[in-house]
Amino acid sequence: MKLNYGIIGTGMMGCEHIRNLKKIPDVNITAISDPNETSREWAIYACGDKFMPEQYSDHKKLLARDDIDVVVVATPNFTHIDIMRDVFETEKHVLLEKPMCTNLSDGLEVLEGSKKHSGLVWIGLEYRFMPPVQSLINKIDKVGKVKMLSIREHRFPFLKKVDDWNRFNKNTGGTLVEKCCHFFDLMNLLIPSNPHKVYASGNQDANHLDEKYDGEVPDIIDNSFVLIDYEAGQRAMLDLCMFAEGGKYEQEIVLTGDKGKLETKIPGNELLLTNRKENSFKSLEIEQDNRIKEIGFHHGSSFIEHLELINCIKTGTEPLVDSKAGLDSMLVGLAAQESIRSGQPVFLEEFLK
Ligand SMILES: NC(=O)c1ccc[n+]([C@@H]2O[C@H](COP(=O)([O-])OP(=O)(O)OC[C@H]3O[C@@H](n4cnc5c(N)ncnc54)[C@H](O)[C@@H]3O)[C@@H](O)[C@H]2O)c1
Repeated sequence: MKLNYGIIGTGMMGCEHIRNLKKIPDVNITAISDPNETSREWAIYACGDKFMPEQYSDHKKLLARDDIDVVVVATPNFTHIDIMRDVFETEKHVLLEKPMCTNLSDGLEVLEGSKKHSGLVWIGLEYRFMPPVQSLINKIDKVGKVKMLSIREHRFPFLKKVDDWNRFNKNTGGTLVEKCCHFFDLMNLLIPSNPHKVYASGNQDANHLDEKYDGEVPDIIDNSFVLIDYEAGQRAMLDLCMFAEGGKYEQEIVLTGDKGKLETKIPGNELLLTNRKENSFKSLEIEQDNRIKEIGFHHGSSFIEHLELINCIKTGTEPLVDSKAGLDSMLVGLAAQESIRSGQPVFLEEFLK
């Protein structure tokens, strides 16, 4: 069965999806849409001579085509809700880029829409499929009962985007939603419980302070510590710094249980397993996923994301990363943004009301 794709939004991430889809058999990119002509040219360049998509400036025209089975939505975060309303008018399968939306009411609307939608709705939280993360997931029983999870991301500032949409909270949902939904998704995946209380401290201390767009200075934070308490007593912590370029690792993940600890660094090939009883550690090789044919910007995880999505479509199974996971990851980010604003802990049960 050949699947016909439509790509909505062909900036950085849309083109990353195109390059991944090029390496997958039985896939065609039938159409692309983007209001920006330069972005459309990037997409045509990315397609090379493999695909010859029809081009649209309006995504509604792409969605009106009956011959498209799957759409990829890779547009600025604040546009996701309107585009998803249009996708829900069709029966198409959709990969919606993270974060699902920028605010709670839009997120809840996408969750409800997904439940009624006949196509599959998949959220682009592909960090789950990075080989170091998959290796850690495969060995999780070695730590005993999970008690603590710490994720550190120390990296470069936000990149330039088309029309600079990522410089303002109103367009992104805030740094802890835009960027860190990936990490909150990993926390929700690795901890066998639900988050219930979020405390955060953060600020914009170094980045984008000398930039102005229509007279306005960007308002996105560039560093934060976020603590999350889970209902069953586990706790997680995110340590984010976005003025830390030049380091060896971008992410470090440490998962501790009552019997031992697993830790990994990305990019890297090592998983360390500490055993409390033996008072020792051993180094385990990361299991490489030999299905990966395109490394891209995310260590091959976007390629695996597409393979898994196609497998769910072909087998008629539920998406591995559904709208509930999309909402849960953005919910922690929104609560953390609110905790920074108010200086108070945020209880998710209250926040959801
Ligand atoms: N999963 C990941 O790891 C990852 C990485 C980067 C970006 N993203 C997400 O992908 C999305 C796009 O980010 P990007 O980095 O590609 O941004 P970008 O600015 O490079 O590209 C966005 C493109 O969307 C276009 N666009 C705007 N409105 C549109 C509409 N209605 N229809 C079609 N196109 C439209 C813009 O003209 C632009 O070309 C964002 O939601 C972002 O958070 C995800």
